[in-house]
Amino acid sequence: MSKVVFITGASKGIGLSTATALLEQGHSVISLSRSISSGLQELSERFPGKLHILQGDVTDPAAITRAASTFETLDAIVLNAGTPGYGRLRTDVLEDWRRLFEVNLFSFLPLLRHALPVLAQSHGRVVLISSSMAEMGVAGMAAYSASKAAMNSLARSLAAEEPDIVTVALDPGSVETDMFEATVQSGKEHIDPEVYAYALDMKAKKQLLTADKPAATIAWLALNAQKDLSGKAIVWNDPALQMSA
Ligand SMILES: NC(=O)c1ccc[n+]([C@@H]2O[C@H](COP(=O)([O-])OP(=O)(O)OC[C@H]3O[C@@H](n4cnc5c(N)ncnc54)[C@H](OP(=O)(O)O)[C@@H]3O)[C@@H](O)[C@H]2O)c1
Repeated sequence: MSKVVFITGASKGIGLSTATALLEQGHSVISLSRSISSGLQELSERFPGKLHILQGDVTDPAAITRAASTFETLDAIVLNAGTPGYGRLRTDVLEDWRRLFEVNLFSFLPLLRHALPVLAQSHGRVVLISSSMAEMGVAGMAAYSASKAAMNSLARSLAAEEPDIVTVALDPGSVETDMFEATVQSGKEHIDPEVYAYALDMKAKKQLLTADKPAATIAWLALNAQKDLSGKAIVWNDPALQMSA
């Protein structure tokens, strides 16, 4: 049966690939991002009537209200929009932390408030796009890591509060997207040199994942994740995932 999935940040990268995977499987997607990329436009032409594109910032209450007005039927919500951030605690600007947390965490709260009653009815799913950084302490990436750690914690709490909804936090791996490139371009002066060199090396050796890899897992989780996964933080290629089921 065709399902309806809401995705933030589907204009590019992992979000766009997730939208593509869902549409190719016959499902409907509602997307919210600040830009309407050529990738989104192409999907809209390929899958007429199946992709509802909303333009807006996840931190803008008006955009959230517009998104919520589409939540009549909803089977899953993928909170994927995110922003990187670099800086050291001694010198970091508090406002940068606030802005990062607005996008990477606080924006989820009004969206979840609107979506949860509908998802409880449909026995739906929440997929939070986290990161391995949630579990790491890398110099120069404190705000980003803390936002992702909070996301993993939110998944646990949400699973406890909403027994009719399956909530999963997913680490998508190291993926070749604009965000990874931003880290390469802007992170050098802030990030631990060893970690920065490792990121450069992965890129040079073409070891980064293409976005379709984690996207296949995210789409699968949005459609199929069962109770045993609720509250967990998992990695995109976790061998325990029986994705053919
Ligand atoms: N790439 C990696 O290696 C990696 C690793 C671990 C975790 N992640 C996580 O994966 C998620 C997706 O990242 P990505 O690598 O696919 O990055 P990306 O290619 O830069 O895409 C980020 C998406 O988020 C949207 N976005 C950002 N700020 C927004 C805002 N304020 N309001 C609405 N939409 C916003 C962007 O759309 P607009 O610019 O059009 O608004 C874009 O669609 C993020 O949560 C990131 O932390 C990525």
